[in-house]
Amino acid sequence: MKILFLGDIVGNPGREVFAKHVPAMRRNGEADVVIANAENAAGGSGITESVARELFSFGCDVITLGDHVWDKREVYPFLNSAPNVVRPANFASEAPGRGMCVVDVNGVRVAVVALMGRTFMKYLLNCPFRTLDSVLGDLTGAGIIVVDMHAEATSEKVAMGWYADGRVSAVLGTHTHIQTADAQILPGGTAYITDAGMTGPYDSVIGQTKERIIERYLTGLPNKFEVASGKAMLCGVVLDVDEATGRARSIVRVQKD
Ligand SMILES: [Fe+2]
Ligand SMILES: [Fe+2]
Repeated sequence: MKILFLGDIVGNPGREVFAKHVPAMRRNGEADVVIANAENAAGGSGITESVARELFSFGCDVITLGDHVWDKREVYPFLNSAPNVVRPANFASEAPGRGMCVVDVNGVRVAVVALMGRTFMKYLLNCPFRTLDSVLGDLTGAGIIVVDMHAEATSEKVAMGWYADGRVSAVLGTHTHIQTADAQILPGGTAYITDAGMTGPYDSVIGQTKERIIERYLTGLPNKFEVASGKAMLCGVVLDVDEATGRARSIVRVQKD
């Protein structure tokens, strides 16, 4: 099974480049199922129901979220009702939404788990490693398991890759918006990359207007960010996973403008 996983979709430019490429990739057989982190899809910060529905209409199967999950308050009821939108599983159990979902792809059950790292993150989170253990303990009958590890520190993501190796099909990093060059299959058959990269505008600082960010670094003042304009790129990975064993056969980095 071919799985297209995309890193953080940023704003309108990110959604446009998604709509430009994903339907064709599905038609060409490059992707049987599409999973996208869309935590920055609504105006660069958070997600709304209409933005999620737009992504689903262009061929997204599962949306994952990260630290920006709570930015748009109006989305909370939708997080509870939408079966294929997952926020990090290591938030408190009282938080809106779910941390895992299972989709049926041509008769194969594909589970998607979202986790968030704790290093340099502002939230009080449960341990992502132990959370993974409990999510996997509850999960029965899923042949393929994909984990979005949304974290700032490369070390925490690498550690999660090794921790999960042999127990899940893939651990794919998001959040830093810069695609890393370490895509690999770990010895136990888990596909891994530290960051899938951003699906959004690259004439920017991680999708935001570069002048605003530079000004913030120069002055230390909390000015308002805005999504950059200009050419966007679709960034992520394509996995080939053996449906019988759940082991990854290959992971290939994707960058399309
Ligand atoms: Fe992000
Ligand atoms: Fe993030």
